[in-house]
Amino acid sequence: MAWRVILSVLFLISSIPRSVAVGAPQVPCYFIFGDSLADNGNNNDLDTDAKANYPPYGIDFHEGATGRFTNGRNFVDIIAELLGFDEYIPPFATAKGGDILRGVNYASGGAGIRDETGRQLGDRISLNHQLQNHMVTISRIREMLGADAATYLNKCVYTIWMGSNDYINNYWMPDIYPTSKLYTPKQYAVVLIEQYEQQLKTLYSYGARRLAIFGLSEIGCTPAEISEYGTEGSLCVDKLDGEVMPFNDRLKPLIHELNRNLTGARFIYVNTYGISTTAVPAVPVTCSTCCEVKEDDQCIPFRTPCLDRSLQSYYDGFHPTETVHMEVAAIGYRALLASDAYPSDPGLDIASFTALPTVGSITSDK
Ligand SMILES: *[C@@H]1O[C@H](CO)[C@@H](O)[C@H](O)[C@H]1NC(C)=O
Repeated sequence: MAWRVILSVLFLISSIPRSVAVGAPQVPCYFIFGDSLADNGNNNDLDTDAKANYPPYGIDFHEGATGRFTNGRNFVDIIAELLGFDEYIPPFATAKGGDILRGVNYASGGAGIRDETGRQLGDRISLNHQLQNHMVTISRIREMLGADAATYLNKCVYTIWMGSNDYINNYWMPDIYPTSKLYTPKQYAVVLIEQYEQQLKTLYSYGARRLAIFGLSEIGCTPAEISEYGTEGSLCVDKLDGEVMPFNDRLKPLIHELNRNLTGARFIYVNTYGISTTAVPAVPVTCSTCCEVKEDDQCIPFRTPCLDRSLQSYYDGFHPTETVHMEVAAIGYRALLASDAYPSDPGLDIASFTALPTVGSITSDK
């Protein structure tokens, strides 16, 4: 897999603007839905244990600790750069005035497709709640743009990466959540995907037309799960990865059907499965985290993290380093391999969204 990483890295080096991007971004706006992998500060003022607004989070980020659950930029920051934005997309919690015309980041650590997911951590903004927040944004955009708002929203890029917490902070906590008693892994995937389908259709009804849906990664490879379950000689906790797989297996055909059924929409599935093991091929997946972690597998505040951060896969027990986020952004933005994104024929990726014609007649009303 090394050659693929080299390709991706070369691509990133050549396309990320070193300084401020020159000229207009490729699309006017970028909206982000997700969990801690994309959160950029929405949890900072929530009553929750899922927070990352303290060092050593952000040690490689120019503003320091912002609430991003990694050492540097997360994948949505990098996608924003690749799209040509000269500022990162603001969190819903603090986005003001005309800023929201560039897009809004609704992602919240601990959140899931299911409303109850992550409850034991404290407050979080579930995907359903993120969609309600998006309605608030849309009303504000309508106030600013009037009748042009619908066409404007059609032009935006939307990324959604949800579902990890529906396993980590729900299904795999049988003492707190009943889901693993109610459903086999395959049944749970069906239930999750049915709810996800409704949520993605809601987003479409709100005017979204260019949507990249990120599949689940190998959650069984996170240091937290490895140290909890052990690997029995394997690289990762194969049992957990096996339970996540049915979700991805169902998500791909859903993407296919949504493309077929929803007029004017382009959905892609981004294949992040395996990325934790391929992004940093020199480093085998191990239990090691870059920062020293507390019992909840988040960084202990103010401890000095590892120095070779660019060569590590995991920053804390659950969250990847910026290096892995770069790889995620790279395959989503420009799918170089047929396996990077789906449908691969015709090759669709976020970069290809920017070339799609605007379908002006589609309204953003339900
Ligand atoms: C797509 O449309 C077909 C035919 O109407 C229907 O059976 C199917 O459930 C729809 N799928 C989705 C995801 O909307």
